[in-house]
Formats: sequence, structure tokens, C-alpha cells
Amino acid sequence: MRENQQEDFPGADRHSDADRGNTNNSAPQSTSRVVENTNPLSEGNGAAQLTRRSFLMWVGSSGAATALPAAAASAFAAPMAASAPVTMDPGLVNVRLTVNDVVRDAQVDVRTSLLDYLRENLQLTGTKKGCDHGQCGACTVHVNGRRVNSCLSFVAMHDGDTVTTIEGLGTPDRMHPMQAAFVAHDGLQCGYCTAGQIMSATALLKEPCGRGDADIKEAMSGNICRCGAYSNIVAAIRQVRDAT
Ligand code: FES
Ligand code: FES
Repeated sequence: MRENQQEDFPGADRHSDADRGNTNNSAPQSTSRVVENTNPLSEGNGAAQLTRRSFLMWVGSSGAATALPAAAASAFAAPMAASAPVTMDPGLVNVRLTVNDVVRDAQVDVRTSLLDYLRENLQLTGTKKGCDHGQCGACTVHVNGRRVNSCLSFVAMHDGDTVTTIEGLGTPDRMHPMQAAFVAHDGLQCGYCTAGQIMSATALLKEPCGRGDADIKEAMSGNICRCGAYSNIVAAIRQVRDAT
């Protein structure tokens, strides 16, 4: 009867006795079962079958969730280490400058601008910070006799240099001729740009500048005056230059 049933239902022989509750057969029937490959990443499970849902189900059921961090760590360790932020030590540097005929030794942050060194370290606040971007000329000083926008220059670049600021050009009692000319021609209004204007004007006297007013204006074009005192500034410069 049993044999007949198996014949009536082809394929029934694939079920083992263990499946039918027969424990007398000690053969390891379970090892003959085909285990479905549910790994969505393995061969045979194409990309078309890999959905977010199937991937998450596989991760949750296969224990891959616990394996992923280790795998991810090993896979990304090198790139992460390469892109890790580097703690920069700004560092200090020793500098020696001669400022207004006084030798100054200092240990400064390498990022310190010459302008900040003059104003913050030496309290020479006659040099003004206007734009701090090299556009207005308010910070002009002389380095080794040539005009420089001190906001654009690191003090660490000037070790051994000689710097002159407006304080070193003259004093109220003994003004430089250019300072006196600015006063005489009323070449200022609020005065914020004036130190830079005068430092540029005195440097201009040693530069190859033409004799006309247009030449003076061109040579002074790096110094901005928001108050618009340009005509009086040119008159002051012309007076000093004609006298030399
Ligand atoms: Fe230096 Fe303006 S503050 S150019
Ligand atoms: Fe005021 Fe020149 S006098 S900006």
C-alpha cells in the first residue's frame, strides 16, 4: 500500500522517514536537504534581486550585522587614517627687527602679520588696520626704505630688517617735511588713512615717479581716502617733491 502511494505521487520519495516521524532510521537525512542560498551578495543572486528589504533581511538573519563593523573597519581604516585631521602646531619663531632705530627681539607666532606685530606687540598704533587685505594702504610702513603693506607681510619674513613707522618718521615737535606739508595743505579729514598716505608719499620721493600730478596720483593709487582728501594730498606731495 505504502509503495503504491509512493508510485501514485511521484517525488514523494524525496521525503525521508525522519520527515514522516520515523525515528528508527538513524541516517543523517537532514544533511541531504538542499539549503537555499539566501545571501543576496553571492553569485546567483543578481543585482536585480538585491533590494533594500532583501539585504536587511539577510543581514539580520545571517549575523552579518555583527560582522559588518569589523569588515567596514578593515575596509575603511586606511582611507580614514589618511584623511584624519592633523593637529597643527603653529609654532613660534624668534625674530630681530630694528623698528624706528630700536632693536627689537621677539618670539612670535609664525602667523603674525607685521601689522599686528607693530600694533599689538610694540603698541605702535599709528599704523592703522583698514581692510587687512592689502587694498587700502592704511597699514603702509617702510621696510628697508621701501613701502610695504604690513597687513600682507608676516613678521617672520623680516628677521634682520629695518622698519620705519609713522612714529619713527617725525614727532609733533620735529615733523618730517611731508607731515608738515599734510598739515599745511589740510591733506586729511578724519585722519584714519593719513599715516599710510604719508608713509607712501615719503617712499614715493625715492621712486622713479614722473613730475606731473597724474604721476603722483598713479603712484598713490594704493592708498585710499574715504574722506576724499585727494586733491590736498597731491598738493602736499607736490610741494615736498618740488622742494627736493
Ligand atoms: Fe593693509 Fe588695508 S590694512 S592694505
Ligand atoms: Fe579720512 Fe582719509 S582722511 S580716510
